[in-house]
Amino acid sequence: MKTIIKNGTVVSETEMYQADVLIENGKISAIGRNFVEADACVLDASGQYVMPGAVDAHTHISLQAGACHTTDDFFTGTRSAVCGGTTSVIEHLAFGPENCSLRYQIERYKKAAEGKAVIDYGLHGVFQQVDSATLQEMEELAAEGIASFKIYLTYAFALSDADALRVFRKAAELGTPIAVHCENDSIVNYNRARLVSEGKTAPRYHALSRPNECEAEAVGRMLHIAHMAGDAPLYIVHLSARESLQAVREARAHGQKNVYVETCPQYLLLTDEVYERKDALKFVMSPPIRKAEDTEALWQGLADGSIDVVATDYCPFNFATDKQLGKDDFTKCPNGGTGIEERVMAMFSAGVMQGRITPSQFVKLLSTNPARIYGAYPQKGAILPGTDADIILIEPQAQGEISIRNMHGVVDYTIFEGMRLQGCLRIVLSRGEIVYRDGVFTGQEGTGRFLVRRV
Ligand code: URP
Ligand code: ZN
Repeated sequence: MKTIIKNGTVVSETEMYQADVLIENGKISAIGRNFVEADACVLDASGQYVMPGAVDAHTHISLQAGACHTTDDFFTGTRSAVCGGTTSVIEHLAFGPENCSLRYQIERYKKAAEGKAVIDYGLHGVFQQVDSATLQEMEELAAEGIASFKIYLTYAFALSDADALRVFRKAAELGTPIAVHCENDSIVNYNRARLVSEGKTAPRYHALSRPNECEAEAVGRMLHIAHMAGDAPLYIVHLSARESLQAVREARAHGQKNVYVETCPQYLLLTDEVYERKDALKFVMSPPIRKAEDTEALWQGLADGSIDVVATDYCPFNFATDKQLGKDDFTKCPNGGTGIEERVMAMFSAGVMQGRITPSQFVKLLSTNPARIYGAYPQKGAILPGTDADIILIEPQAQGEISIRNMHGVVDYTIFEGMRLQGCLRIVLSRGEIVYRDGVFTGQEGTGRFLVRRV
């Protein structure tokens, strides 16, 4: 099976150029001009950008949170992803039973995704306890393509600083990035209890219980601990506060090299005014939506390269049911929001088309960097001969709108409802197959493969 994408503008992390792309057997076989292939399927990309499929390095497609489970399974979650231009996901796992091994959750998720996912998927390991067995497992799992691990500083299995140091020391040896959810657990818990005892239970108090300093303090602490561990690779997930970004800049200025920063569209495109809305529960997520000064600082961070990745932290719970658990008390609301289908075009429109980032920066932030940092590059994240033909075609001059009415997931809302889009996603290819075209999912359940990642 051959496909030629003709007349488009190919975009990489460093350049843009007019070229045709020849695809054979799911791989890019050549980039050039005037390919003559009588039996090829030809896609005319005149006036369109031809970009590597986006990689979402932070999803919670399948997550149990108290009594609620996210709305998706790996079929519906990845269908929604691909209909938004994302051609690989790397899932952050839920916690398993107390004292379970790292492998226990990996095996569960592999089973859940196999035969369901429509695009390729990787898995990050998750730490619940640190001991010699789990540290040994890190090494074994990394050799099997689980080349990254997550630690939480809040929630049920928040790690102590000493345990974080142990994980970082092993990571420095293996080269595996450690993704960290940075919030000061004891301050968050104190704030939550205090606010509830004062009768302050509306969604706006969710944001007030997790102020910028809660994140920035934890980010600063992790920077020091990763440095102590020999400049271990530290990846800060969903950074949202301007003070956190400043701490990263300072650490880098002092020579710390292995630090990666991820933010998410919600921290760039929304402000804390959402907590005054009637549907404020939709925005109960951690960290919370911040102030306009933070969004401005984050856009600056994208433009100057201080932020490396834009991922989603996709964690969908239905508004009509699950989220309503928090209607009388924000602490009862399952945390998380939408974004897996919205990320690419929201960032293209607000970033590229509004001149805040270039097309190449867009490719770098949403595709090349996450693939590279997490060990999937160049198989993913690049349009180069020999790489997987995961490709998206975007028409910059077309317009659209984000609305739950034309999305392909099963969650009942989008946090970006009504956002006008400049630019339209036309076609998505996953390993050479057209899986989305002009609003319609054309892929197949179960075609996604486990993504072996190597750092
Ligand atoms: O509120 C959020 N973000 N829920 C998902 C889990 C996490 O914190 O990443
Ligand atoms: Zn998190």
